[in-house]
Amino acid sequence: MSATLAESPSLAEAGADVRSMFNRVAPRYDAANRVMSAGIDTVWRRKAIARLLEGLGDAPRILDLGAGTLDGALEIARRSPGARLAAADFAREMLRAGRGKLPRRLDRVDTHAADAHHLPYRDGAFDGAFSAFCVRNLRDLPAGLRELRRVVRPGGRVVILEFLRPEHTRFFFDRIWNAHVLPLVGWAVTGDRAAYRYLPQSIAHFRSSAEFEALLREVGFAEVEAKPLFPSGVATMVVAS
Ligand SMILES: C[S@@+](CC[C@H](N)C(=O)[O-])C[C@H]1O[C@@H](n2cnc3c(N)ncnc32)[C@H](O)[C@@H]1O
Repeated sequence: MSATLAESPSLAEAGADVRSMFNRVAPRYDAANRVMSAGIDTVWRRKAIARLLEGLGDAPRILDLGAGTLDGALEIARRSPGARLAAADFAREMLRAGRGKLPRRLDRVDTHAADAHHLPYRDGAFDGAFSAFCVRNLRDLPAGLRELRRVVRPGGRVVILEFLRPEHTRFFFDRIWNAHVLPLVGWAVTGDRAAYRYLPQSIAHFRSSAEFEALLREVGFAEVEAKPLFPSGVATMVVAS
């Protein structure tokens, strides 16, 4: 494998707490994901990536923002054999765990330790961008979304997967699953209690679907469409162009 690991100069200014949390859980992150979602997170990524690649041609340049352990980037590379990928994340340990999963012959994925608020790419560098469960963690969401908009060419497509704040409390998902079960399972699998208490809190403080769609329009996306995903809209796929 000949992927590269470059560092953005702005990294030191990035949100150190969130970064150190992801660095800590990196070695057990995939295991926690699979147990907590019963594998549904891989189905969500597949669906979102199929939508991302529609009409982008045979050799698209694609950014995976907040790429973590590279599950999204790997799926894009599998689905689009001609795609050239940049996987950006400010938690080096997440990228390191992901690089261990890249097949040796796959040299189309470059990993960059970079902060979403200051991406080291030129305007319009990508035909499309994918971002799964990252933007909820941004210190300055409008700035991060503007930056995402900047690096995707006009007419390109952005697909975001995220846990948006529900409009109404869902008894099972919010009161039981997110509030109690997830933090316990996350703690049991990773040994990190704080990280998995942060997860439901970050969802509760994030934007609702309507707020998030409005913000995407504000930062310059003309077309925005949000699609709740099974089960019960626990995750949402947002397509913007
Ligand atoms: C919940 S993980 C998701 C990882 C991966 N996309 C997935 O689907 O499994 C969120 C990722 O976003 C990254 N992240 C959060 N804030 C970031 C920022 N400001 N800049 C770059 N990456 C960030 C974290 O380091 C973490 O790897």
